[in-house]
Amino acid sequence: MHSFHYNDGYLHCESVNLETIAQQHGTPTYVYSSETIRNNYQNLATALAAIDHGIEYAVKANSNISILRLLVEMGSGFDIVSGGELYRVIKAGGDPAKCTFAGVGKTREEISYALQQGIYCFNAESEAEVEFINTVAKDLGLTAPVALRVNPNVDAKTHKYISTGKAENKFGIDFEHIEAAYQRASELSHVNLRGLQMHIGSQLTSVTPFIEAVKKVSPLAQKLKDLYEIEFFSIGGGIGIVYDPCLESGSQQWWDSQEKGPITPQQYAQGVLPYLKDLGLKILVEPGRYIAGNAGVLLTECLYEKKGTAKTFKIVDAGMNDLIRPALYEGHHEIVPLRENTSGQTLPVDVVGPICETGDFFCQNRELADFQQGDYIALLSAGAYGFVMASNYNTRGLPAEVLVDNANARVIRKRQSVEEIIDSEL
Ligand code: LLP
Repeated sequence: MHSFHYNDGYLHCESVNLETIAQQHGTPTYVYSSETIRNNYQNLATALAAIDHGIEYAVKANSNISILRLLVEMGSGFDIVSGGELYRVIKAGGDPAKCTFAGVGKTREEISYALQQGIYCFNAESEAEVEFINTVAKDLGLTAPVALRVNPNVDAKTHKYISTGKAENKFGIDFEHIEAAYQRASELSHVNLRGLQMHIGSQLTSVTPFIEAVKKVSPLAQKLKDLYEIEFFSIGGGIGIVYDPCLESGSQQWWDSQEKGPITPQQYAQGVLPYLKDLGLKILVEPGRYIAGNAGVLLTECLYEKKGTAKTFKIVDAGMNDLIRPALYEGHHEIVPLRENTSGQTLPVDVVGPICETGDFFCQNRELADFQQGDYIALLSAGAYGFVMASNYNTRGLPAEVLVDNANARVIRKRQSVEEIIDSEL
């Protein structure tokens, strides 16, 4: 489900006209729908209702504290990957006791902070890390709840940069070594083995790799429960969303494609639950993109048109520093005008940003409704891994963020000024 529709010829988010937001707050600006976030969360919770489960929203996907607050209200837990993300969750009113802490390179400061805040569990990614967590806990006179992340060596069939569950990826402990690692961890004085975790990759567009992974790892979870009384098995995140409706859903239009998705929560649950329901463990999931991805758009204004001998370029005021997914993963984002194209006419264009890099484009040779200097367009499915990956490259301020709730639009992050960028430089 999603909350972006044309209404009287103008693109709206819920009941708010996006052109009004662009005019009031300038561009580039990210706009998010509260309704879509709540609905996505609720749909996943409903699909998993048959088992004892917990949703740990992956904060990295969109970490604005107003978004986190929405998820706190929904009852979500949080998967964090840094001390900074834990700090945000706490600021948003989240409960550290509902946080899992992932990532291959946790520092002493981060481990101490998380221990002192009383997080639910560290998801440790190497034996060296478990030993270090034990040392830090001992120094503080505390016991650290720990799960090990297993690398099941399953191909998620996604982009190579967001594939994490193959033996050649840096994540987790090899399936072949995991039982011995638990055995050694069980002997550490300040570690309490609480669970097992895996995450095979992001933007999965088929349930098959998820099924393959749970089928392979469930017997291990059972064994670890019997041996060490672990209480949870986290199967990670990774549910994909529709970026390109033709590719990922068979629909022609982004608007119609969202219900079906590449994977619905029901299909996901039907695929994995048979292997999980009899384990007697709490099952955790760590969705990021599924919750926030189609809940956000990036608004940008067309600055210039340049007709070359080979191409027509539409130069817009958002760049790869604002949304890096096309440059980094060859990611596709649908591009639509804020004023509806009723003629149905299109022409092939490259939409490019102002950054001095050839890779700074949002599409190439794509048939789009024509738009001119001063017109606004929206890049769709930009709610996850959008703003959070933005940078100051070319000394450009971070974009503004606006959260819509029904007819109300609220700035949840001010546009960054150049003064703010250089303030901390000496
Ligand atoms: N759990 C762990 C341990 C993860 O590493 C991730 C994502 C998630 C959960 C959430 O995955 P999701 O449900 O969002 O697929 N920047 C990339 C995606 C990087 C994903 C990193 N890890 C992109 O824009 O496609």
